[in-house]
Amino acid sequence: MENIVYDQIAEEYKESKQLSFRKYVEEYTLFKISGDISNQSVLDLACGEGHYTRKLKSAGAQKVVGVDISPEMIVLANKEEAKHPTACKYLVSDVATIPDLGAFDLVSAMYLLNYAQTKEQLLSFCKAAYKHLKEGGRFVGVNDNVQNKPEHYQTYAKYGFVKAGNAQAIEGDPITYIIQNSDGTTFQFDNYYLSPQTYAEAFAEAGFVNFQWEGPFLEPAQRCNDYWNAFMQHPPIIGFSAQKQ
Ligand SMILES: C[S@@+](CC[C@H](N)C(=O)[O-])C[C@H]1O[C@@H](n2cnc3c(N)ncnc32)[C@H](O)[C@@H]1O
Repeated sequence: MENIVYDQIAEEYKESKQLSFRKYVEEYTLFKISGDISNQSVLDLACGEGHYTRKLKSAGAQKVVGVDISPEMIVLANKEEAKHPTACKYLVSDVATIPDLGAFDLVSAMYLLNYAQTKEQLLSFCKAAYKHLKEGGRFVGVNDNVQNKPEHYQTYAKYGFVKAGNAQAIEGDPITYIIQNSDGTTFQFDNYYLSPQTYAEAFAEAGFVNFQWEGPFLEPAQRCNDYWNAFMQHPPIIGFSAQKQ
């Protein structure tokens, strides 16, 4: 599978990590779902420029490996690692054809699964996560919310992005994210719709138990702030977790 989009938007995507929903919802959700990761080994699938790879390491993980299909994203990750060493390791690879990297306590995937355009692709991502987990290990992450209704797609502008897509999405339909960074620049990329049933089937077929959508969760200090109402009432993104028995 080819994915050259992120080679062209690597810098803009990195900059978009400054948007407030990233910290107060996206990051908070990942770490709430992950729980205590002290001394755990973590494989971060679709790590991009390593934003969460580094955060997982600084949250106490003993070893973190990041994998991404985009060479440009991995260039940025390695540049950051050279500037501020964290001992994170990075690899360019398609998750669908990832080499065997051993067994980890936790596998994370922040916005990987929503790149699958077919059930087969989704299954290949889930199988890659499964084969890299120790028994009892967990697969966690944040994804496009497959239950987010298109009528809400335009309501997220104040958070720095809007979404666009077919009113009645069918399997494989694109969902476009148009992101406006705080410096005013905009860029966009596509995710792909697969139904909740397809997700449930792919996780089960890969061997996972206890697959569930979780959250998203808002950082407690932000909960009295009405600013987040539109985001939290109709969440555009959502967390997930599953376990290898
Ligand atoms: C929205 S970005 C998220 C990056 C990072 N996880 C984060 O949250 O900052 C999605 C990433 O998925 C990567 N990606 C898409 N398809 C992939 C695949 N088949 N294998 C590995 N990485 C993939 C892209 O290159 C991109 O870096």
